[in-house]
Amino acid sequence: MIFYFSGTGNTRWAAEHLAAATGERLLFIPEELKGDCHYLLSADERIGFCFPTHGWQPPRIVRQFIRQLQFSTAAGITAHYCFALTTCGDSIGRTMEILNRELAAVGLHATSVFSLTMPESYVCLPFMKTDKPEREREKIEVATRQLEHFTDLILRRVPEETHTSRGLTPWTFSHVIGAYFNAHMITDSKFTVDADRCIHCGRCVEACPTGDVTLESITGNGALPQWHHDGSCTNCLACYHHCPRHAINYGSITRRRGQYYFGHGNNHH
Ligand SMILES: Cc1cc2nc3c(=O)[nH]c(=O)nc-3n(C[C@H](O)[C@H](O)[C@H](O)COP(=O)(O)O)c2cc1C
Ligand code: SF4
Ligand code: SF4
Repeated sequence: MIFYFSGTGNTRWAAEHLAAATGERLLFIPEELKGDCHYLLSADERIGFCFPTHGWQPPRIVRQFIRQLQFSTAAGITAHYCFALTTCGDSIGRTMEILNRELAAVGLHATSVFSLTMPESYVCLPFMKTDKPEREREKIEVATRQLEHFTDLILRRVPEETHTSRGLTPWTFSHVIGAYFNAHMITDSKFTVDADRCIHCGRCVEACPTGDVTLESITGNGALPQWHHDGSCTNCLACYHHCPRHAINYGSITRRRGQYYFGHGNNHH
């Protein structure tokens, strides 16, 4: 089984590829969180986790999910091959060490860990921008080749391989900057919508993996997206990136930023 999370589709692309190649079942973490998170494993089943890097850590929703995981297996949990793949724009720091600390609590350890550098989706800080189209294409081309290699290792259940871009100062990225980022900047409180740009199409609602957005008629001029402020937002930015009118913003900085999602403008061809 492969558990995955994805906001803008990069990780979905990789996870779907791995599921198709291995025949493992593919499960979307936000959907799984609606159930009891208890899984019966068949003898040969691999256990995989695929998710984007958020602030040099696994996304909050992935960590919450792992804390609820329970497995029943005749073979014993350590007999199952366990791997993890994260997609990032640039570097992952100590994301996989943090993941493995969470997994240890449920008796798991990912012995094969991989990262894929994919188009950037974070745009809410002054120095963070989407990549130029050529760079997006180039990243996806390289990632396509790397994913073939990772797929081969996962198919053969090769353990103790690490293929990750940790960046220059992984500890500082994850435990200082990333810790601050994840404690204070994962919030839906800064989202706004321009009523004069919105065409009420509902794509932001469909794109949100956690059900945090609904269209509500407040103005009488047609329904506008509202964020629920219920703690479910994991800041994946799917709502921002999928809006066909760039009507959604996070603070004021994103007014001058581009938009991206996997497959946008057929950039994966
Ligand atoms: C909230 C947030 C935080 C991010 N933090 C990082 C990061 O620390 N390092 C990095 O290289 N990329 C970072 N990114 C970029 C994403 O990891 C990258 O674009 C990823 O492939 C997106 O995956 P998805 O399309 O499956 O959501 C971040 C993106 C978001 C939305
Ligand atoms: S509200 Fe937007 S950023 Fe938050 S989880 Fe939903 S799509 Fe992602
Ligand atoms: S995706 Fe954009 S245009 Fe469509 S309803 Fe949401 S804010 Fe309005």
